[in-house]
Amino acid sequence: MSRLVVVSNRVAPIEPGKASTGGLAVGVLDALRQSGGIWFGWNGDVTAEEVPPGKNQTQGNITYHTFGLNKRDYDQYYRGFSNATLWPIFHYRVDLSRYSREEYDGYRRVNASMAQRLKPLLKPDDIIWVHDYHLIPFAEECRMIGIRNRIGFFLHIPFPASEILTAIPPHNELLKTLCYYDLVGFQTDTDKLAFQDYITREVRGVLENDGSLTAYGHNFHMGVYPIGTVPDDIIKQAESYRARRNFISRSIEGIPYKTIVSVDRLDYSKGLVERFCAFETLLERFPQHRKAAQFIQIAPTSRSDVKTYQNIRKQLESQAGHINGRFSELDWTPIRYSNKSYDRRTIMGLFRSADVGLVTPLRDGMNLVAKEYVAAQDPEDPGVLVLSRFAGAARELTSALIVNPYDVVGMAEALDRAIRMPLEERKTRYEDMMRIIRKNDLASWRDNFLKDLRSVKVGAEAGTVTTLRAVGAPVA
Ligand code: F6P
Repeated sequence: MSRLVVVSNRVAPIEPGKASTGGLAVGVLDALRQSGGIWFGWNGDVTAEEVPPGKNQTQGNITYHTFGLNKRDYDQYYRGFSNATLWPIFHYRVDLSRYSREEYDGYRRVNASMAQRLKPLLKPDDIIWVHDYHLIPFAEECRMIGIRNRIGFFLHIPFPASEILTAIPPHNELLKTLCYYDLVGFQTDTDKLAFQDYITREVRGVLENDGSLTAYGHNFHMGVYPIGTVPDDIIKQAESYRARRNFISRSIEGIPYKTIVSVDRLDYSKGLVERFCAFETLLERFPQHRKAAQFIQIAPTSRSDVKTYQNIRKQLESQAGHINGRFSELDWTPIRYSNKSYDRRTIMGLFRSADVGLVTPLRDGMNLVAKEYVAAQDPEDPGVLVLSRFAGAARELTSALIVNPYDVVGMAEALDRAIRMPLEERKTRYEDMMRIIRKNDLASWRDNFLKDLRSVKVGAEAGTVTTLRAVGAPVA
């Protein structure tokens, strides 16, 4: 079988015992472990050298080819266009986005130089899988320097509605570059439809009978591939940790507090401010939960040199202090808020011990925490997932308590209901969700995407109708 070459902005190998690194890293590593291959991208260092050298490191069947970024590239490509323009816009936060031509040029320049670096590492039948919004123009850059391999792209974050997307001044040029991929994958049908809408209405592309698109002179395929988890690994991690430690604080009478848990990268898209308000509203409107419930929020910091991330951090610190100041008692602290990151086993153990998983992003591509929380539960006494309708996961986990994160009182009511939910209802909801989590697991995500990418017709073959599996995995 052809070798797999994965390209992502950040290369983040997961080492046992180290902190959890998020959905992209877990998914990519799993895909590579199965087939072997190369993982190519930034090592996270910002260096003084104008052209930082690349480094190869092989572990088992995976070769990590990584390199640093110089300060200008880091500022313009990563901190600038990727995280201060694309990230907020793709998460519907036009109010938080800014645009600079220099940063866009830097974004294009880094994509071009990454393609140049990759070229000598490639064999003719390698298959290239590119991940996420940092690398939208990567395929075009590859084609311009004569790389003919199959190239697929998966967007881990939401794809916004046209009216939002067009706030990016070079939206047309940017979206044109996406059409150079052979296959473009999305988390949900909503994302795929938003993309299709942009291509067909904004640039008069054509939706072909086989479901492919033709635009800017290119014919390419698109599909829906909801990213999943490895439920059996989560179950093992959750069980083994619980055996050693119990996270749940107890009242002085020895009664365990009902525990609500959330784990997110500290990001304004995660709805943390609204979530804190919802917990405060729960204590205000349902006083029976005072000294009876606690909320644990783990939020490792992220992109901390981007202004909008500094602002949200300050806001949450003040909110947590305010709620604790207002409600805590000598023997009870309502919110435990931490910016530390913990290894996966600890987090899965925490999930299993918690009565409620509170996952309420304002907008999220998928949100694997929702799936992980459910998978970590004890089938005989499962907790309840409270999930935002704006997380991609809500398309699949319809048996969660679905909330609108802009409705603070609605979230507080859902929390009250979750805490009081009878065992039979909790079990039924858990079993429904586990069926879907097992069906749409990480292996299906990887296998469906790669199967479609391998069967898509490219180069001289393209233009004829292909026989892809009805591209777009059913989600539930
Ligand atoms: O899933 C979104 C994403 O931006 C990934 O591309 C990335 O690996 C992860 O979040 C962490 O972000 P960063 O690399 O900016 O710390």
